Amino acid sequence: MALRFTDDFIDRLRDSNDIESVIAGYVDLRRRGKTLTGLCPFHNEKTPSFTVYPDTSSYYCFGCGAGGDVINFVRHIENLDYIEAVKLLADRAGIKMPDDKVDDSASNLRRRIYSANREAARFFHETLFTEAGKGQLDYLRRRNISMKMIKHFGLGAAPDDWHALENHLKSKGFNRDELVAANLLRFSEKNGKRYYYDAFRAKVMYPVIDLRGNVVAFGGRVLDNSKPKYINTSDTLVYKKSNELFALNFAKNGNERKIILCEGYMDVIALHGAGFENAVAGLGTALTPEQVSLISRYADEVALCYDSDEAGQKAVRAALSLFSKTGVRVKVIRLQGGKDPDEIIRVHGKEMFAKLLNNADNDTEYKLSVIRSKYDVESSDGKVNFLREAANYLATTDSLERDVYAMRLADELGVSKDAMLQQIKQASKREYYRKTKSEFQNAQKQAQEMEKMVDPQRVKNMRAAKAEDTVLISLFNNAAFYKKLKDRLNNDIFVTPVNKQILNVVMSRLENDESVDISHLSQFLTSEQTGAVAKLLSKQSMVSNTLKECEDCITVLEEEKKKREISDPSKMSDDSFLAFFNSLKKED
Ligand code: GTP
Ligand code: MN
Repeated sequence: MALRFTDDFIDRLRDSNDIESVIAGYVDLRRRGKTLTGLCPFHNEKTPSFTVYPDTSSYYCFGCGAGGDVINFVRHIENLDYIEAVKLLADRAGIKMPDDKVDDSASNLRRRIYSANREAARFFHETLFTEAGKGQLDYLRRRNISMKMIKHFGLGAAPDDWHALENHLKSKGFNRDELVAANLLRFSEKNGKRYYYDAFRAKVMYPVIDLRGNVVAFGGRVLDNSKPKYINTSDTLVYKKSNELFALNFAKNGNERKIILCEGYMDVIALHGAGFENAVAGLGTALTPEQVSLISRYADEVALCYDSDEAGQKAVRAALSLFSKTGVRVKVIRLQGGKDPDEIIRVHGKEMFAKLLNNADNDTEYKLSVIRSKYDVESSDGKVNFLREAANYLATTDSLERDVYAMRLADELGVSKDAMLQQIKQASKREYYRKTKSEFQNAQKQAQEMEKMVDPQRVKNMRAAKAEDTVLISLFNNAAFYKKLKDRLNNDIFVTPVNKQILNVVMSRLENDESVDISHLSQFLTSEQTGAVAKLLSKQSMVSNTLKECEDCITVLEEEKKKREISDPSKMSDDSFLAFFNSLKKED
C-alpha cells in the first residue's frame, strides 16, 4: 500500500476540480435537491440514473453501477490509469504534480507509445514528399485529395521497405519492445528467434487522432486493388478501435451539434475537403455502443451515410437500433449518383451531397418506408397491415412526430385520422410500459452482472454483505466510531472481498487519524473498489448513523461467520471447533 500522493495534494486536487463542474464537461446535469442527475456516459439510457453527490464528491449510476470520485470519473471517461487521471486534473487546475511520484511503468509505456506514434506520423508525412513516397502522393492526387487536406489530416506514406520506420524510430531512441507495443513493428518467430518488420509498408497512411490530440493508431491503404485493402493498428495500450472514431477530433469542434457518420477514411477526407467538417467514420468495425455514446456527447443529430447496398442497409438498421437508446436524432442519407460520399462529391460536386444531406429521411421516414416496402398498400389487406405496423412503430417515436406522421399516413391512405391516432395511442401505452421496463431490466442486469463479476461472494452472502455496507457507511460518516468498535472489527468477519479490501484501507487510515474521504481512499483501491465506495455513499440515507446500529451489524457478521464455519469446519479456529465438536456430542 505505497502512498503515492499526500492527502494535502489530493485535497487540493479535489477542491480545485469540483466534481460537479468536471462531470458537467461531459454530461448534461440537472439539479435535483442536493444531488445532480444526468444520462450516464458509461451506458446508453434515455432516463437519467447517473447521480452526482457534491456533498461527498462522488458519483454513482443506479443503472450500470459505475461510480467513484472525480479521479475515477476522469479515469474512465478518458480511458486513463490512476496517475494519468491525477495528472490531467492537476493540469486542468494548474496544480504542479509532485516531482518524485509518477513512476508507473504502464503509464510510462503509454507515454512512449504516444510519442512513438507521433514520431511515426511525422515520418510518414515527410516521406510522402520524398522519392519513397512518390507512388502514395500520386495516388492521393489521382483521388483528388488536395494538398490542404493532406496537411490537415497529416496523411503520409509508408515506404516500400521492411525496416524504414524501425530504423528511423530507433535513431530517435525507441526500442523494439516499445514499437511492438505500439503495433508499429510486428515480428514472426522461427526457431525461437524473432524477426521484426515494419507493420506498414508501401501504404498510404491515415493517422487516427484521439480527442486529446494524440496519434493513437494508423490505417494504411494499399496503392492498387490487392487485398487486404487496409492494414490497421490493432488494439494497444492507448487504442481500442471500438471506442474511437476517425476525425472526431475535428468534428467535435463544430458548433451545430450535428455529425455525419460514414464508412471509410476516404469518405471522411472527401467530405471535410468539401466543407463538411463534421464527418466521422468508424475504424473498420461495425458501429459499437461505445461509439454511439461518444457521438451522443458531441451531437444531438447524426446523419448516417452508409452504402446503399444490402450490407450498408443492414448497418443502417443496426445503427438506428443503437441510437434509439440515446436521445440523438437520426437521419438516413440515401446515396444517389455514386456508391459513397467520396464518389458523389468527385463526380457531382459538393452541392449534390448537400442536397442529399438536406433531403435525408429522418429515422421515422426511413423506418416507415422500410415498413411500407413490405406490404402491398394498394390491397385493403396490405393497407390495414401496413397501418397496424406503422402505428406500432410510431408509438416508439416522440409525440410531435407521431402526430405529424399519423396525419400524413391517414391522408395518403384515405383512413380517418382519429382511428389512426387511436391505434397509435394504444400501441404507445404498451410501448411505454415495455420500454421503461426493459430499460430498467437491462440496467439492472448489467449492474448485477458487474456485481457478480467483481464480487461473487456478495450475491451468496446477502445478509452479511448488507451488514458490512452499514458498518462501512457508518465509519465513513463517523470516524469516532472506529475507536469504540475497533476490538470487534476484525476483517475476517467480512465476507465479500470488495468490502474487506475497503475495510482494510479504512481501518489503517482511521488508526492513524487520517480521513476516509473517497478521494483519499481511491488511491489505495482499484477502480472497481472505488466504485463500490461510491455506491455505499449513494446509500447513506439508509443508515441511521448510530453506534448501536453498527454494533448490531457486527453481531450479524459474527453470527454469519459462525454459520460459515459450521458448514466448513476446516475454517474454524481450534477453540470454536472444540466447542462445535462438544455440542455435537451433546446432541447424540
Ligand atoms: P477507398 O477504397 O480508398 O475509397 O476506401 P474507403 O475508406 O472508402 O473504404 P471502404 O468504404 O471500402 O471501407 C470502409 C472502411 O472499412 C475503411 O475505411 C476501413 O476502415 C475498413 N476496411 C475496408 N477494407 C478493409 C480491410 O481490408 N481490412 C481492414 N482491417 N479494414 C478495412
Ligand atoms: Mn471509398
